[in-house]
Amino acid sequence: MNKPYVYITRLLPEEIVKPYREHLNIGMWQEEEKPVSKEKLEEESQRADGLLTMLTDPMDEDLLKKTDRLKIIANMAVGYDNIDVDTASKFEIKVTNTPDVLTDTTADLTFGLLMAVARRMVEANQYIKDDRWGPWSPLLLAGTDVHHKTIGIFGMGRIGEAVARRARGFDMDILYHNRSRKKETEHELGAEYVEFEELLEKSDYVVCMAPLTDETHHIFDRDAFKKMKKEAIFINASRGATMNEEDLYKALEAGEIAGTGLDVFEQEPIRKNHPLLELNQVVCLPHIGSATVETRHKMMRLCLDNLVKYFEGDKPLTSVN
Ligand code: DGY
Repeated sequence: MNKPYVYITRLLPEEIVKPYREHLNIGMWQEEEKPVSKEKLEEESQRADGLLTMLTDPMDEDLLKKTDRLKIIANMAVGYDNIDVDTASKFEIKVTNTPDVLTDTTADLTFGLLMAVARRMVEANQYIKDDRWGPWSPLLLAGTDVHHKTIGIFGMGRIGEAVARRARGFDMDILYHNRSRKKETEHELGAEYVEFEELLEKSDYVVCMAPLTDETHHIFDRDAFKKMKKEAIFINASRGATMNEEDLYKALEAGEIAGTGLDVFEQEPIRKNHPLLELNQVVCLPHIGSATVETRHKMMRLCLDNLVKYFEGDKPLTSVN
């Protein structure tokens, strides 16, 4: 029997892909750092039985309606806002993502980012690199405490919960806001459910872990930042478009909040002339939440497992539609 043809939109290590060649006829974009071109993505979407996509590949209605062979899109991310899932469902195209395997890795990075902003680690590192380290002084690079403060987690999914677990280890008070209340999580982690506004008003650290949807788009706007404490630090490790970046800049500049740590941006990549980079109280990372070799390998394998399962007539492991 002919093997199903699957196109992978980025160059993945052959050691990962090789075992799957037994089940799948695999084509692959030959660049690791550059996304597949628009033309190639369109061509392969029409030719392939399955696609393994990255979050940089816009699988929109226009593209999906030109497909007629395509049966499954395995997206190598837990987020899938790059895919028009409603249209995919309409054309009976399965969509899968990569939850669980990246939960702890992303939570580690998120908490690390929070610590980096609070304790001014990036500034401190630059201080030495600039050869500015003089005698010890009482308030040199003094930051703000993390332990025993209040963290407010917006989006208590798997990664939100894993961030809360880390916060617990730092004796923090944990507030959360989520689409629905999670009594078990409250019980297990000692977290308290609050309305969005209360979360903004009471938290020392406001951490956005919610997926990007119509409801969360720009939810962190000037109004939201104004409601936060002046000492508050805003962390975003989910999707950039949950915040209005211009509003965030204005809030920081006006001293309405104290700092921010961002792993995601509205338009990625940002360039060095991005206004937020002018400010000291900002730590920016290039969307590396799940970027450890172990986790990225697990994400790749999960995508490939989903494709194999589907073409063998089984249910994929992690479907979103
Ligand atoms: C995800 O999986 O959605 C992350 O943002 C990618 O690292």
